[in-house]
Amino acid sequence: MTDNNFIWWKHGVIYQIYPRSYMDTNGDGIGDLPGILSRLDYLQWLGVDAIWISPCFKSPMDDFGYDVSDYRDIDPMFGTIADLDNLLAAAHERNIKVILDFVPNHSSHEHAWFKESRSSRDNPKHDWYTWRDAKPDGSPPNNWVAVFGGPAWEWDETRQQYYLHMFLKEQPDLNWRNPAVKAEMLDTLRFWLARGVDGFRVDVAHFCMKDPDLRDNPVNEGGTTFFKDKGAWDSLDHVHDSGHPDIHQLFREMRQVFDEFEHISPRYSIGEIHLEDAEEWGTYFGDGDELTMPFNFKLLSADWNAAAIRGVVDEMESVVPDHGWPNAVLANHDEPRIVGRYGKENARLAAMLLLTLRGTPTMYYGDELGMPDTHIPADKQQDPWGLRVPGLNLGRDPERTPMQWDSGQYAGFSEVEPWLPVGADLETYNVTTQQADSESTLNFYRNLLSLRKSEVALHAGDYQPLDGTPDNTYVYIRQAGDEKVLVALNFASTACEVALPASGTVLVSSHAESKLAGTTLALAPNAGCIIKL
Ligand code: GLC
Repeated sequence: MTDNNFIWWKHGVIYQIYPRSYMDTNGDGIGDLPGILSRLDYLQWLGVDAIWISPCFKSPMDDFGYDVSDYRDIDPMFGTIADLDNLLAAAHERNIKVILDFVPNHSSHEHAWFKESRSSRDNPKHDWYTWRDAKPDGSPPNNWVAVFGGPAWEWDETRQQYYLHMFLKEQPDLNWRNPAVKAEMLDTLRFWLARGVDGFRVDVAHFCMKDPDLRDNPVNEGGTTFFKDKGAWDSLDHVHDSGHPDIHQLFREMRQVFDEFEHISPRYSIGEIHLEDAEEWGTYFGDGDELTMPFNFKLLSADWNAAAIRGVVDEMESVVPDHGWPNAVLANHDEPRIVGRYGKENARLAAMLLLTLRGTPTMYYGDELGMPDTHIPADKQQDPWGLRVPGLNLGRDPERTPMQWDSGQYAGFSEVEPWLPVGADLETYNVTTQQADSESTLNFYRNLLSLRKSEVALHAGDYQPLDGTPDNTYVYIRQAGDEKVLVALNFASTACEVALPASGTVLVSSHAESKLAGTTLALAPNAGCIIKL
């Protein structure tokens, strides 16, 4: 059934690509934009509506592209602007939208702006970044710490001042309170939107506005913050280093830029906003006049059981305003893979959850194969977070390894040794093998994507959880008009029986052993079933 109201960012499915690891076409062991283009047929076959490409802009790669040295150029490692234009055209031909990654909080220390800013205290860009004098005893201006470890301040010999960096010292924070910075950065969005880019994922979006007085963060009295177990980070309550209320005005201004292009086609923006407090998170929908939505990361940190997962979904549903639209994500380039977190036996259950909830799902490349995290030997580690905060297992390399296209030496990703090792069990976890097997995880994902698109209840319907189902099951109905689809998920490692409110037909089942007889659904362990009522 064609849904004439289908809006790509709302009803469609987004697929995240880490460009270093998707497909290498120029033989340097690192993925590139022509590589992504060469795999568009696969993405169309899979059935995704949009791709989000992690940063591909010019960068010294201290944080693998999240340290931009020219916001208006593509890094030669990934290709050229012409390659991006070609990718946009080819993706659009296939009805696939393209979302880029905007990194507004910090640039690279190699950006021309920062070089100028650090050159003297009175150069024209002297306050494009956050500079402060030392305290009388020479120590940094406040107690803020960097997410990636150590103080958030770095001493600069030339200026005889400290500059602020909430991440690496190679990622100085831009001063968004300076109107010239804001104007330049908003124009950067226009630059890409005018080329046909359909939207942006906005990196650590709420970090852009800090306390104007740069007050000390209070000590964290026992509560945990969102970034769990992150050493010194958790010792403080992060009330002053991010999320100052002025951020909402900035998001309104960003939205106005997106809206300038809305007459061409719907544009989308999603903020990376990690917050523990759901109500506060809900405020990031604004009045429908800020970023389209904040990323909902809570499923990523929830315990993997029915009550906890339902609790997160219900809480989110209760804070998303009527004019807003939820989203769901179970993995990305900063977190262990789905299978790494929940175990191989839960790969299909997780897929069914992600692709049947109300709201826009974002998938992470490789998860459609059930790809596990890859063990990285110490001498092959790359991620600066893992290397600079040792002992806490913070390295993000295991989830960033090359996409596995076939079972060849380098997984069909490259002709040469890739920048990170290829995963184990390549014979099982590769596209070619799984495409040929109708029972594979890949074909399971494809069926789910196709069903989500064809069933209006799944992509646009409301959400109603059912109470009183067996322990460790999560059952909900998605409904649009008269169309009703029931989703039953068994998180237990034992089989169970769910009594349905009505009989129906099975649309997709994760395990052949699950059976529907009348209104009794027998679910296999860790199994899910989608039923048309
Ligand atoms: C975001 C990105 C992460 C990056 C950090 C600093 O959290 O997702 O990969 O390292 O911002 O830019």
